[in-house]
Amino acid sequence: MEPFRVKMVEPIPFPSREERERALEHAGHNLFRVPSSAITIDLLTDSGTSAMSAAQWSALLGGDESYAGARSFERFESVVRELTGYPEVIPVHQGRAAERILLGALLGDGDLSVSNTHFDTTRASVEAAGATALDFPSGQGEAGFGGGLDLTRAEQLLTSPDGARVRCVVLTVTNNAAGGQPVSMANIAGARNLCSRHGVRLLLDASRFAENAYLITARDSAHASESPREVARQMFTLADGCWASLKKDGLANIGGLIALTDPELAARCREQLIAVEGFPTYGGLAGRDLDALAQGLVEVTDPAYLRYRTESAQWFGARLTKAGLPVVEPVGCHAVYVDAAQLLPHIAAHELPATAFANALYREGGVRVSELGTLVFGRRNPDGGPDLPAPRELVRFALPRRVYTRNHLEYVAEAAARIAAAAADLPGYRIVEQADALRHFTAVLKPLN
Ligand code: F0G
Repeated sequence: MEPFRVKMVEPIPFPSREERERALEHAGHNLFRVPSSAITIDLLTDSGTSAMSAAQWSALLGGDESYAGARSFERFESVVRELTGYPEVIPVHQGRAAERILLGALLGDGDLSVSNTHFDTTRASVEAAGATALDFPSGQGEAGFGGGLDLTRAEQLLTSPDGARVRCVVLTVTNNAAGGQPVSMANIAGARNLCSRHGVRLLLDASRFAENAYLITARDSAHASESPREVARQMFTLADGCWASLKKDGLANIGGLIALTDPELAARCREQLIAVEGFPTYGGLAGRDLDALAQGLVEVTDPAYLRYRTESAQWFGARLTKAGLPVVEPVGCHAVYVDAAQLLPHIAAHELPATAFANALYREGGVRVSELGTLVFGRRNPDGGPDLPAPRELVRFALPRRVYTRNHLEYVAEAAARIAAAAADLPGYRIVEQADALRHFTAVLKPLN
């Protein structure tokens, strides 16, 4: 059960079916464009959607809003140093700002960035720097740790003539785009070894570091007696630095960080930080945000919280399986992923099966989930034909932290069961309008019948 009790409540909207139909039509059949006032249960993202604790709300009042040298920064810096062991701590307003600044400082034209999977904003920052992002996911080779880096492929690249162009190896922990699967300690250590031998930096996208650390304690007997915080420290120790969106495991609604061992790289990041985010002791955040984050970064490694979080995700995965959905196994922590290609074999990838499922679920129950398929990861075909498909057509039921109870998730599973039963009748979609990058946020779509 939840290791907390409710102290403050927020009513949720119950739009009628007719209102939902209208909202979806008005939004160009894109759930990102539907207002939250028309959403009953919002599982679009676990990012920035956490409920803060009483201790965090109370920490807000201690916020020091001094432009330079704020005490709030000192508290934040000290928690991040203790957690990661990295001396250089740079706050930013969210993860993608960290990516833009750090990858912009590190990468240039023709460089390569190798990862277990670059998240979409990470890839955008690699490409903005003139470099190329290469994903080498390990797949399910290692039981319970399907989020790793394919070390053999990475090694082949590093020993090839192109190896000299590799500027960094990035491990996204947990691997959001690859089903939210964790990365094992052995895989992180293997990547460390590879990077050391080839003189390449190893960086963590640590947005869900605590969940990754907990899953290591739960799934790897060699770490069963360690605390999630100890395991997190070991993960950080193996890398040369990290960035994170603190809208996830910071347990707050805004924030991000860059933390590094290298003072020279940190100095280059700070120069850019001042130009685009703010002075290095606030980095685009209010002092009070830094205090809420400092407290969140302590709470998030509480084993009781992480156990509840993992077990509720697992319960929800099992419940969706019972509802007739092909759930990606094993379930991680922050979300349950469903394979829409398997559920909707009659819809081709370029007709967006994951979008078809997500929109149907919204129509049915006012539930918002996100598509992680060809709308997000596909590419326009340079020859003008159908879009180049994403590797998988996943739908993500993201779980905001400390927000929804099992009853809310039961409601979602009941709506999902009705969609699964009617799967053969769902229409695909075509894209009517799209931006060149990150098209899923703004695209306008039309159902195919
Ligand atoms: N890295 C990972 C692994 C992420 O999941 C995200 C965001 C980011 C970086 C970017 O961070 O949003 O603070 O700028 N993921 C959100 C999601 C959007 O819904 O999964 P941001």
